[in-house]
Amino acid sequence: MKILNAEYMKGVTRPDETADETVPEVSFIGRSNVGKSSMINRLVMRKVAKTSSTPGATRIINLYKVLYELGGGRKSMIFSDFPGFGYAKVSKEMYKGWESMIGGYIAESRRIRDLIWVYDVRRDIDDLDKALIDWVFSLELEFSVVLTKIDKETRSNVMKKKMLFSRYFGESRVLTFSAKDGYGRKELLSHIVAEH
Ligand code: GTP
Ligand code: MG
Repeated sequence: MKILNAEYMKGVTRPDETADETVPEVSFIGRSNVGKSSMINRLVMRKVAKTSSTPGATRIINLYKVLYELGGGRKSMIFSDFPGFGYAKVSKEMYKGWESMIGGYIAESRRIRDLIWVYDVRRDIDDLDKALIDWVFSLELEFSVVLTKIDKETRSNVMKKKMLFSRYFGESRVLTFSAKDGYGRKELLSHIVAEH
């Protein structure tokens, strides 16, 4: 599998704001500042997604068209970069607005094939995470959990987290990644393409 090109399409709040319903879509969701946009940039090896050290920077769903080669054929998919959940500094009303936008988008989109739930490996699971886990399970969509920023954690702690998540979600659904050094890139790309 080889990435040929990736480019920004547009920022949307509803799935019907972009016409093509047949292109498979892979959505990157998770808490604020966990590294969703950095993961997309590393996967496509281009800086298409805006990253920020200010949590809560993404307020809309940004779509990217990704062109790739597989088994001699050219294919395309859409990556969707979701606003992060749970950024404390936005008002309750605004947060509710995001939540219903994301939920509505996922419920309505006919393109979404796979949810990539991005998780900062250094974090402990809190109540909001538990609520998100339950919500993701209830969607009845394919999903994977990617523990990211592993370059910032010791190898043994990464393994511990991986085992903990594997017990919960099944080993095949849990991957590890670093946007900084590219660890896990190939594996995650193969995983994404295999889900189509
Ligand atoms: P929001 O869109 O605000 O929810 O954030 P996000 O989840 O898209 O996170 P983003 O990719 O913007 O990254 C947040 C910060 O974490 C940035 O300062 C990134 O440079 C840093 N970061 C992301 N991934 C990694 C990683 O794998 N390793 C390290 N060391 N830093 C990372
Ligand atoms: Mg982002």
